[in-house]
Amino acid sequence: MTLNVGVIGVGMIGQDHIRRLTHVLSGARVAAVTDVDLDRARAVADDLPGAKLHQNGPALITDPDVDAVVVTSWGPTHEEYVLASIAAGKQVFCEKPLATTREACDRIVDAEVAAGRRMVMVGFMRRYDDQYRAMKAAVTSGDIGAPLIMHAAHRNPSVPGHYTSDMIINDSTVHDIDVARWMFDDEIAAVTVLKPRVSSKARPGFNDPLLVLLEMASGVLVDVEAMVNAGFGYDIRGEVVCEDGTVELSESEGTVVKRAGRFSGRVPATWRERFIRAFDLEFQAWIDAVRAGGTTGPSVWDGYAATVACETGLAALRSGVREPITLRARPDLYKQDVA
Ligand SMILES: NC(=O)c1ccc[n+]([C@@H]2O[C@H](COP(=O)([O-])OP(=O)(O)OC[C@H]3O[C@@H](n4cnc5c(N)ncnc54)[C@H](O)[C@@H]3O)[C@@H](O)[C@H]2O)c1
Repeated sequence: MTLNVGVIGVGMIGQDHIRRLTHVLSGARVAAVTDVDLDRARAVADDLPGAKLHQNGPALITDPDVDAVVVTSWGPTHEEYVLASIAAGKQVFCEKPLATTREACDRIVDAEVAAGRRMVMVGFMRRYDDQYRAMKAAVTSGDIGAPLIMHAAHRNPSVPGHYTSDMIINDSTVHDIDVARWMFDDEIAAVTVLKPRVSSKARPGFNDPLLVLLEMASGVLVDVEAMVNAGFGYDIRGEVVCEDGTVELSESEGTVVKRAGRFSGRVPATWRERFIRAFDLEFQAWIDAVRAGGTTGPSVWDGYAATVACETGLAALRSGVREPITLRARPDLYKQDVA
């Protein structure tokens, strides 16, 4: 049976997910769309044979012809739509963030726990990236000993004019935060944010780059260089240093050309190029799990923990000192991770 999906928020990533649902993946179709910008939603619906246009999110969620919901609207609107989907008994894929505050995430945790089953997958797609998966396999195999340190870099070529230092944490480093929790099956205990010399390419008042230090509960340290005006490309780096060896992400996913005493390869231009396969695998995993009657991947707990870490990171950015993280007790529902 084909899964009929309704999409709320048809901006950049919403349209990208509609493209993959319609043309790339199997087992699902886009049955309905909506957006606060109804003209945009109408234009998208017109290109999708048989898709309905809904006036708002609640109407889409309660439509009996919609089996499952994709939330790709602006972050502050996610809570409302995720809670409404849970209340309607429908599985929901929510782009990151799950919600923008600890309190909003708390309400979603409470609602899903009350429902008694996992109903939400959060879009932390790096968990589906082949290189990160290979790195995690090497770390968890034990072949290179216990992990001690992870070095990471998140470099964007440039960002739009409205981007702020806070967004370096909330929108960029959030992915490294999720990777750290997933890589080491551990929570983050504290965050420190250091401000290196400011890039001359940063706007006035904008701290770019940042150095974010995550302390895992086990004692593993993760340093993340986050820089959003790198210019040369979208460069994602990672290396885990263990007691008996190291494992790092590849320098290049494409070919390496050696010529005239030099070698060269491609640096991805955008996050879309770097993670396009991860987005496909993530979404196919969600479709398959929902068709089988459940869900998979990053959970509401993962979304909650990431938002709390980001909030703490913002506090550390302002205070300049180490800020400890306090999480609520982990409900039993999230004690058995599925992916
Ligand atoms: N996983 C990733 O790497 C990744 C990448 C890009 C974006 N995202 C996330 O996806 C979400 C959307 O990002 P985007 O870049 O597509 O933004 P966007 O601004 O391009 O699109 C957002 C859309 O939501 C609509 N919208 C706003 N309020 C709404 C409401 N109340 N109800 C319905 N629709 C509403 C807007 O009109 C717009 O069309 C964000 O939460 C963002 O963080 C995740």
